[in-house]
Amino acid sequence: MTTCRACRGPVTEFFDFGRQPLSDAFRRPQDTSEEFFYRLAVGVCEECTMVQLMEEVPRERMFREDYPYHSSMSSVMREHFTTTARRLMETECRGSDPFVVEIGCNDGVMLKTIAESGIRHLGVDPSRDVVELAAAKGVRVRFDFFQESTAAEIRATEGPADVIYAANTICHIPYVDSVFRGIDALLAPDGVFVFEDPYLGDIVERASFDQIYDEHFYLFSASSVRATARRFGFDLVDVQRLPVHGGEVRYTIARQGRREPSAAVAELIADEQQRQLTDTTILERFGMQVKRNCEDLTTLLHQLREAGHSVAAYGATAKSATVTNYCGIGPDLVPAIFDSTAAKQGRLSPGTHIPIRPLEEFSAPYPEYVLLFAWNHAEEIIAREKAFREQGGKWILYVPDVRAI
Ligand code: SAM
Ligand code: TMP
Ligand code: ZN
Repeated sequence: MTTCRACRGPVTEFFDFGRQPLSDAFRRPQDTSEEFFYRLAVGVCEECTMVQLMEEVPRERMFREDYPYHSSMSSVMREHFTTTARRLMETECRGSDPFVVEIGCNDGVMLKTIAESGIRHLGVDPSRDVVELAAAKGVRVRFDFFQESTAAEIRATEGPADVIYAANTICHIPYVDSVFRGIDALLAPDGVFVFEDPYLGDIVERASFDQIYDEHFYLFSASSVRATARRFGFDLVDVQRLPVHGGEVRYTIARQGRREPSAAVAELIADEQQRQLTDTTILERFGMQVKRNCEDLTTLLHQLREAGHSVAAYGATAKSATVTNYCGIGPDLVPAIFDSTAAKQGRLSPGTHIPIRPLEEFSAPYPEYVLLFAWNHAEEIIAREKAFREQGGKWILYVPDVRAI
């Protein structure tokens, strides 16, 4: 029996994806070293309802010098984080010398706006290449993992933080107890800890099973986040649904008794209870839908190949590692993935070894069908690549179901 990383309660497994590679380990074609695999399975805690992976990948394997995810590559995400920074400054930075800390600042996409406003800030991120990109934008960064000891050191040298913010990072950190003790050490008495991550409610509703991979250790819900916050002397005081990355929730956490929880918290938790979101029956039903989606997708790809159509994919996302490896999609079905990230181009997709090619080659000539792995950026990508569809190309989507549009 696995014990919950958040509360030590018993965790019941509800879906097993089998052996999976690291989702962001894009291989050099000449690399002959053995690839790292682990068992990707997901379960739910019977005590605190936290949905989590059954097996943990050592953090240094995932977050390393050449971590290839660069937040600023999407214009929609750049705008999202500029708006977020402005909102945090307006609502939480009213004192004379506010201090903002970001956990997982990546290339500085959010803190850049805070830095430009002259507000005292610090980004904490363990992936060296992205930290250097942030520093080049004038962002102050600490090259490190956020955990209790890091937080205590920052508190000692810089004083308490008015805002601790994180996007798409807290769900990456299995040692959530150390994170919360760190928040306790660093946060000012009336400060807020604000974080946003893919929302379990959207993942289940849209069957977006590819949100499950090594880095996404937790799939949060308002119920599980509130239970965890309370264990460490905090409370969930606000929730906000966000449209980015296929549906996220932004959680606002404050020290217990410092802020009145908004009506939105009770509403979202009531909705989760009414949907029985964290009941094993619902989660097992989600698992059946995952199997069906994969079968539909591979059937379509086989049909296209047999009919002689050209197929490729768009967006070498971390998510796509789960799709290609679980569904068994290799270069025979999808010969190339086009991606704008220089650090991924010329490499092979983890596990399935599909070549990643630069976007500049996408139109030379266009494939007939393109599997959109970066479906969370669909609006932005489909609009920019409108010439592809105008000349007869079709996008293949696989969440919530498989279809060519
Ligand atoms: N915040 C950005 C965004 O939303 O686009 C980046 C998200 S990226 C998926 C996750 C980031 O978290 C990576 O840059 C990674 O290096 C960082 N990270 C992972 N574990 C961390 C930890 N313990 N403390 C701080 N950052 C961490
Ligand atoms: P994400 O789904 O984890 O945000 O990753 C998106 C991937 O898609 C990343 O490797 C960059 C790539 N991408 C493009 O190639 N073109 C685009 O326009 C966008 C938005 C992303
Ligand atoms: Zn638990």
